[in-house]
Amino acid sequence: MPTGKIIIAIDGYSSCGKSTIAKELATRLGYNYIDSGAMYRAIALYFLRNNIDLTNPVSIIAAIANINLTFEFNSLTQSSEIHLNDENVASYIRDMLVSDRVSEVAAIKEVRTFAVAQQKEMGRRKGIVMDGRDIGTAVFPDAELKIFMTADPEVRVMRRFKEMYDTNHNITIEEVRHNLELRDYIDSTREESPLHRAKDAVLLDNSGMTKTEQLELVIKWVREKAVMAR
Ligand code: DC
Repeated sequence: MPTGKIIIAIDGYSSCGKSTIAKELATRLGYNYIDSGAMYRAIALYFLRNNIDLTNPVSIIAAIANINLTFEFNSLTQSSEIHLNDENVASYIRDMLVSDRVSEVAAIKEVRTFAVAQQKEMGRRKGIVMDGRDIGTAVFPDAELKIFMTADPEVRVMRRFKEMYDTNHNITIEEVRHNLELRDYIDSTREESPLHRAKDAVLLDNSGMTKTEQLELVIKWVREKAVMAR
């Protein structure tokens, strides 16, 4: 692989496999992987735990001042996990309670300003794969490689259902479908950095693709961009 390190921005709808590809890609390239959605989820968890009024900017600003987010590598899970004020919250942030509110929290201007500033800092030395909704449009508008991922809605529902069923046997397909539809709607219609495909993003529709096929295709794109970035 060429030595010129680049920034890889991966955006797309909920549950289209962004983090799976982003994580594998980062491992292959020896890059850092940052799940920006985990940051919004951890902030939503803090707001829920502390009953923060989402309609009150003063409470929101005060709450944000008390939030410290870090990513720490867990050698057991072999992944970088989010810590909220030094507590590992990786196992709480995927709860339906958080999923139900996170899009609302992520639509708040002050929340985005706080998260985006940290995300930009993480990319200062390049060699990073970050996934989310606004990475190629707002966080790293100059990223060398931008990928916009999508997949058939029903494929996404079943993927997320299987993922959630592992830890919650009471979850229903209908609940998952409703949550995904609502989040996609809020994420792509909000005022602040809504989800949309950057003009220079390559499209990856992975509905009928295996993980290996996706990874091979993305590695090909990385090679092309990294050679140009040298
Ligand atoms: O990727 P995810 O489902 O874990 O993201 C959780 C929520 O955070 C999602 O509803 C949209 C929001 N999000 C965002 O607005 N911007 C990002 N860069 C990443 C996530």
